[in-house]
Amino acid sequence: MKILVIGSGGREHAIIYSILKSGRDVVLYCAPGNGGISDNAKIVNIKYDDIDGLLNFSLSEKIDLTVVGPEVPLSLGIADKFLHSGLKIFGPGKKAALLESSKQFTKEFLKRNNIKTADYRSFNDFENAYAYVQSKLHPIVIKASGLAAGKGVFIPQNIIESKDYLDLIFNKKIFGESGETVVIEDYLEGFELSYMIASDGKTYKPLATSMDYKKAYDGDKGENTGGMGSISPHPFLSADLEEKIKKNIIEPVLSALKNEGIVYKGILYAGLMIKGDDIYVLEFNVRFGDPETQSILIRLKSDIVGLFESCINGTLDDYNLEFDDEQAVCLVLSSAGYPGKYEKGFEISFGEYEKYFHYGADNLGYMDKDKDIYIFHAGTKKIDDKYFTDGGRVLNICSKNKDLKTAADNIYNAAGAIQFKNKYYRQDIGIISIIKS
Ligand code: AMP
Ligand code: GLY
Repeated sequence: MKILVIGSGGREHAIIYSILKSGRDVVLYCAPGNGGISDNAKIVNIKYDDIDGLLNFSLSEKIDLTVVGPEVPLSLGIADKFLHSGLKIFGPGKKAALLESSKQFTKEFLKRNNIKTADYRSFNDFENAYAYVQSKLHPIVIKASGLAAGKGVFIPQNIIESKDYLDLIFNKKIFGESGETVVIEDYLEGFELSYMIASDGKTYKPLATSMDYKKAYDGDKGENTGGMGSISPHPFLSADLEEKIKKNIIEPVLSALKNEGIVYKGILYAGLMIKGDDIYVLEFNVRFGDPETQSILIRLKSDIVGLFESCINGTLDDYNLEFDDEQAVCLVLSSAGYPGKYEKGFEISFGEYEKYFHYGADNLGYMDKDKDIYIFHAGTKKIDDKYFTDGGRVLNICSKNKDLKTAADNIYNAAGAIQFKNKYYRQDIGIISIIKS
């Protein structure tokens, strides 16, 4: 079976790891992949937003299954195009992808379906937006409506900061077209939770729960990033709360999508804020979260290829989705400066940890059973058998254990030993006492 994975991050490397672990007889391709992925899959040099290029490749190579990692190809309608050409693809169509690619669409969708979300207004120009923030208490939340790689949300503490952010978006156009519309919403307090489900258009199954550390610095300080680490399961998700999330958010959303003519096949990720008894939707993603997926997939016991197939074929009801009961942690090693400007092109030295990512059919990456360490590559490239930094988020070090502290100690030992210039990582991933505000 030929499988193409689209994307180039740690999430895609973790998906590839899970496919290899499934034990299926597969030929794996990845477009465009990264340095570590090139050890496990054939690299296809087509960018993930080149939909026609990917389609032509898949048709000529007779790809049996395509799995889409990032949101951009989904928002460009890759799933519709592949299906139209008779190719199997895991991920929702363009209309469903609006749940991620347009925050304005999502806010309207939630409001008209009476699903809880922060009160908001949307704006297309600086003057009206600025007049609005002047009338509001701060902090407040300013969001570029379009895709911004997890960096399009600002939480100004006062009107001066609000003005600066609106100026950056509307006048300096830092997000280009993605910032043409801005959603301004009330600031919610509480604790955050990422909840992901797989859907086949008829039924759904929850993935293991997880929590993402979104801020750049320790103690959840600094700018929002794509995510600096994750843990699974989520430490504050009781069975009771999970039931409420299903009944108040997931099921109403899936049935509203159906009523609006959208058959949702793929992963739906709900970013939620829990405030007392209330559950608010902060955002949706129409794909696996990154780096939550890395923590979740190292706990997956079932065959991930079967999960993709059952969602595509509408047979999810018959598929048994199981996770182990260990505590998983994922730490992002980044290039200092991320999510802002950073330098790249520095050689990475893995030392004794090099062995952990050379997994193939008979070596699945966790060579030391006691430590259960997994190293997924995110922003790396490989030249002449050496690995170099090639992005803001460089490597993901993951581990799992019955005891979260042991898993966290394992990843921090590895984080200290792996070297590259300008290495930066948070020191508090997996230390849960500081999370609940
Ligand atoms: P989003 O991309 O919409 O999930 O926003 C990114 C991050 O900004 C979230 O994970 C929260 O930490 C924060 N955030 C977004 N909306 C709100 C809100 N209404 N109140 C408080 N924090 C928010
Ligand atoms: N970690 C958040 C995201 O994948 O968007």
